Amino acid sequence: MEKNITSFEEYKTEYAKSINAPEQFWEGKANNFTWQKKWDTVLQWDFTKPEVKWFEGGKLNITENCLDRHLEQRGNQTAIKWIANNPNEQSRRLSYKKLHTEVCKFANVLKNNGVKKGDRICLYMPMVPELVIAVLACARIGAVHSVVFAGFSAKALADRINDATCNILITADGGFRGAKITALKDISDEAMKNTSSIEKCIVLERTKSKIVMQKGRDVWWHNEMQKASAGCAIEIMDSEDPLFILYTSGSTGKPKGIQHSTAGYMVYTEYSFRNVFQYTEGDVYWCTADIGWITGHSYIVYGPLLSGATTLIFEGIPTYPDAGRFWQIVEENKVNIFYTAPTAIRALEAKGMEFVNPYDLSSLKILGTVGEPINEDAWHWYGSEIGKDNCPIVDTWWQTETGGIMISNLAGVTPSKPTFATLPLPGIQPCLVDEKGNEILGNSVEGRLCIKYPWPSIARTIYGNHKRFKDTYFSVFANKYFTGDGALHDENGMYRITGRVDDVLIVSGHNLGTAEIESAMDQHKNVCETAIVGYPHPIKGNGIYAYVICHNTPENSDSLRKEINDLVTKQVGAIAKADKIQFVNGLPKTRSGKIMRRILRKIAAGESDNLGDISTLLDPTVVEEIKITAQ
Ligand code: WTA
Repeated sequence: MEKNITSFEEYKTEYAKSINAPEQFWEGKANNFTWQKKWDTVLQWDFTKPEVKWFEGGKLNITENCLDRHLEQRGNQTAIKWIANNPNEQSRRLSYKKLHTEVCKFANVLKNNGVKKGDRICLYMPMVPELVIAVLACARIGAVHSVVFAGFSAKALADRINDATCNILITADGGFRGAKITALKDISDEAMKNTSSIEKCIVLERTKSKIVMQKGRDVWWHNEMQKASAGCAIEIMDSEDPLFILYTSGSTGKPKGIQHSTAGYMVYTEYSFRNVFQYTEGDVYWCTADIGWITGHSYIVYGPLLSGATTLIFEGIPTYPDAGRFWQIVEENKVNIFYTAPTAIRALEAKGMEFVNPYDLSSLKILGTVGEPINEDAWHWYGSEIGKDNCPIVDTWWQTETGGIMISNLAGVTPSKPTFATLPLPGIQPCLVDEKGNEILGNSVEGRLCIKYPWPSIARTIYGNHKRFKDTYFSVFANKYFTGDGALHDENGMYRITGRVDDVLIVSGHNLGTAEIESAMDQHKNVCETAIVGYPHPIKGNGIYAYVICHNTPENSDSLRKEINDLVTKQVGAIAKADKIQFVNGLPKTRSGKIMRRILRKIAAGESDNLGDISTLLDPTVVEEIKITAQ
């Protein structure tokens, strides 16, 4: 394995090399992997199409790199340490050898059920080792996995299955989450009523919940595994063959199936994992994200396994059975590297030190955060109360679309600064632009965050809609990838991400589209129009504030609020429920009919005295009314 960057000086040298000779730089990294055939060209790209190809002509399988190549040296090392939701349930340990065997077997299960290279497979599962096994089994045989977060509703699941025309759904009888059981198979059944592509549903037994198995379609995971043979040769994939699709919310319309390809994603997730977290041989690494999000894909599954690390997987939630659960797990498993979201940090901070103090956290060396801007208070609490002033914090900025961490300090190696993601990783060329797309040069400036040059794990397309991919990311500013985030630069050129500049909301670190929530609410028979905005929320980062126009004045506004939120739960999922719903008679619109969300955001944030210029509104009087009845 390649050495990590170990000093700020070395970072600067590596960064310069990566900019001056990107192809040579990444070729050097790619040489650390096992290839069936090496590439003909390192990089071909054209952002106007957009088209990006890394390591074209190369042949490989990512699971050979995650599993097979480790067997000789670390076959008996723990690959996955799994901790159950219930603290009394036995944890599980899968060595690299065992994981390899299980992946091969399940790959054969997929084949026995008709899966072929290029098929799309939907995974709707709890956080159990079988989810990782299923992900890798898909990759082993060249099928494209599409993991759907197990908190999404039947409608959201069906939409995602239909969009990618998945032919197999892998789920479980249920999932344990805190004190609750999520009825994953029932939800899947509901979803499958509205899908036509699913031929087989493979069901893992987890909760022993009573479920219905449909003959001919539904099969049990354990029965299929018994029938499957052990060995499974890798499918030899092209570098640019798709590896997975992962849905993320957009500013408008339906979720986007972000598609990643094989070789570039592999090279970048491994490189970024090792360097950002300064992973060293033998470290126990724990990322608390769900595998249903990109963080779980890149930094629970692929990055750590490619690096031969021990990756801990937790099935449950931070507050079950109490708010000390994370710290108990850290103590019991001597976790060295811990990666979580600001929302979890704030929620646990609010519970008080009595949940932290009982535990020995001295194994911790490095802390990380991801998913949303971290506020200064939470940053300090994390560093002093969890890290005992002894652990660098890496604030890692990146996106589903970027595949891997883009802007972050390297733990203990490059400088950190509270609330700043700091500097780009080698190979990443960010810039700030003004509204017209002109680059804003110099330090101490603020603008929209773009990336000027391709990196290996950049998304290649939106599944089935390359035009939307181009329009969303490559057409807003010519010849640049537009992130949708705003950012500023301090006097030393360090980046601070200030938040989304589009209509994507980050709530508890989850990406939600305002359009998706609005259209769910609009389905209520008494709802005429809605506008969703975010407002500052002490734990979630952003809360969801809904302005709703009704056809008829509601008789009981609380019960209507509940009905509206029930619809959101059904259509999208409970994570998208509004925290506040205000009934209004009109919305502030421009003369061209566009909702002025800026005004609604200010009112939701309690800053209605400072609305700025509202004279361009079609009817400025609606604002007065909204201000008076604000929640
Ligand atoms: C936000 C998650 C500030 C940002 C990996 C981005 C962050 C969106 C940070 C992507 C961070 C992520 N500081 N904001 N360290 N990390 N974000 O696709 O707005 O779920 O565009 O990927 O999360 O969310 P996604």
